[in-house]
Amino acid sequence: MSAAADTAARSLEHWSEAGRAEMEAFYALATEDYRQLALAADWPALLGGRARPGWRLLDVACGSGKFPTALLRYADLGALPPVTYDLLDPSTFSIAEARSHLAPPFTPGRELAVTLQDLPPDAGAYEVVWATHALYALPPAELAAAADRFVAAIAPGGLGVVAQATARSHYLAFYDAFRAGVHDATPYTSAEQVRDALRAAGADVREQRITYTTGTTDRVVAEGFLQRCAFDDTVSLAEMEAAPVLGDYLAGCRDADGAYSFDHEVLLLWL
Ligand SMILES: C[S@@+](CC[C@H](N)C(=O)[O-])C[C@H]1O[C@@H](n2cnc3c(N)ncnc32)[C@H](O)[C@@H]1O
Repeated sequence: MSAAADTAARSLEHWSEAGRAEMEAFYALATEDYRQLALAADWPALLGGRARPGWRLLDVACGSGKFPTALLRYADLGALPPVTYDLLDPSTFSIAEARSHLAPPFTPGRELAVTLQDLPPDAGAYEVVWATHALYALPPAELAAAADRFVAAIAPGGLGVVAQATARSHYLAFYDAFRAGVHDATPYTSAEQVRDALRAAGADVREQRITYTTGTTDRVVAEGFLQRCAFDDTVSLAEMEAAPVLGDYLAGCRDADGAYSFDHEVLLLWL
């Protein structure tokens, strides 16, 4: 597939065994996204309030399981009863990766190899449904259908959570600059768009904003991270820095010594 393939297709191509090294380079910095989420709420209390015999959780766009991994590390889930943990992702590579990282109280359940927008409306009712840094490559034109499916999957009294970066946050701002300066593509979907779509789907949505920075002085780490941010490992860091628009954006992320720092602003959307 050419580097100019559109966003959703490049996402699916890169969430694969062939993309493993690039994924691991990305998480040298992006693991922090999930630590921030794990520390942003009282997860044992939130989850404990939904726990009941036979309860189920749906992880939408499960990726490689970094969020449950962070919860297991930073939140004390020891008092929770086992919960059946269903994994949804169009990438079977992602599902296998996430599944391999589940540990009690998360008990591996069904594998749903579909996009959120293609989740059958009768897929079931879950006590907990979450999507963490998950919906960027979802085409904006398909967001309304995806939001309907997300809301429909939450059982009465259940908890829905979406964590997504805002339009001004690094992932979105970087990709806008990449599209303008390297090659055009469908933009990433922002937290604001997801929030509005969930409300249009009838959900009562409360938002919580978190901000933090990630960074590195290592150009190899910065290059791997940024290539994954664009799902494009054909463009070097030097080429990105020399590109129109993108070069300006990256100059704003660099200090006088060349160290990179990326600004993140994330909405936690509570349903
Ligand atoms: C950054 S990862 C999500 C990270 C994950 N929440 C975690 O805890 O590690 C993004 C995932 O979204 C999936 N994805 C892309 N488009 C999707 C869609 N329309 N519906 C559901 N999943 C999608 C990708 O295949 C990829 O596995």
